[in-house]
Amino acid sequence: MTKTTELTATVCWKAPSNLAIVKYWGKKGTQEPLNPSISFSLQQSYTQTTVSVKPAKKSGFTFRLEGEPREAFNVKIEQFLQQAAQFLPFLQNHHLTIDSYNSFPHSSGIASSASAMSALALGISSLHQLSLGKKADAIDPIMVSGLARLGSGSACRSVYGGWSIWGKTNTINESSNRYAIPLSQGIHPTFQSLHDTILLIDTTPKKVSSSLGHQLMEQHPYRQARIDQAYANSEKLIRILASGELQSFFELAEAEALSLHGLMMSSNPGYTLFHGNTITAIHRIRAAREKERLPVGFSLDAGPNIHLLYPGSHQEQVTTWINHELKELCYEGRMIHDHIGQGPEFLKI
Ligand code: PMV
Repeated sequence: MTKTTELTATVCWKAPSNLAIVKYWGKKGTQEPLNPSISFSLQQSYTQTTVSVKPAKKSGFTFRLEGEPREAFNVKIEQFLQQAAQFLPFLQNHHLTIDSYNSFPHSSGIASSASAMSALALGISSLHQLSLGKKADAIDPIMVSGLARLGSGSACRSVYGGWSIWGKTNTINESSNRYAIPLSQGIHPTFQSLHDTILLIDTTPKKVSSSLGHQLMEQHPYRQARIDQAYANSEKLIRILASGELQSFFELAEAEALSLHGLMMSSNPGYTLFHGNTITAIHRIRAAREKERLPVGFSLDAGPNIHLLYPGSHQEQVTTWINHELKELCYEGRMIHDHIGQGPEFLKI
């Protein structure tokens, strides 16, 4: 493969985390998903990554998180950059300095690998553009999404704002297992301004990684049933997002979140990531929806923290209720008030 001319440059991207309503759980081939997933990008929860590049005899990188070297992440980054070098040849004869900052605390139930890998994929794609003599922000989102997927599956959905889908479905012709695409058409206003308050119930690092969880799907007794469920739920969610129907949305989001955790409990070995307060919060959320007609529902990522979902139109009423009923279930009363976001931002430096 031809090596590129020498480049000295710095770029900076801010990329959001995202919350999947239909969950990706289990992989096949080269980081392709067992089933389609649908998510929305957050606004306040993001990773900001500055990547500086200078010529070197061979490839290499230095990584800092919040200004500190974090060796635990080096293997994952190295594997990612090696794969990326097939598509971005400048990586073979340059050294990268990667400085990342998260806007949210570590282990807060927010997918940091999604925002981190997406920000890094955007950064190296911009540098690739510069190495070709093009503008740094003239990147192709689909290409970046495919690249981000190699770093972390869920990251491929973080290169867009609003809603996106990753994984081939019959309903959306352009959908693919190799990259995510935005779901910009046919989203009802209710779902364009959705709020997500993350209840930080337990902030200790989780004991079982998502990588292991994906692996356990290979021999899972419910594997095929889960694949069928996720395909059906993807099609159903696309219809719900167009209709604006909140009750069906909450039912589907909760069924998906509980299926994800059910799959963890029923794998071999099985495990549980819930905290006692996770269950208490679920009961209170469902009771508020059913008895008080409050438009609230929940989702969960691979952890004990609850993503409380509600329409922007009810923000004041829901916030009062959260402070009254849910805040006491959170570690030190901590919560992150977030909402559906605009997507990545190229920052001038
Ligand atoms: O992208 P990964 O390998 O960290 O997997 C993420 C899986 C879930 O967050 C649980 C679901 C999803 O679709 O984001």
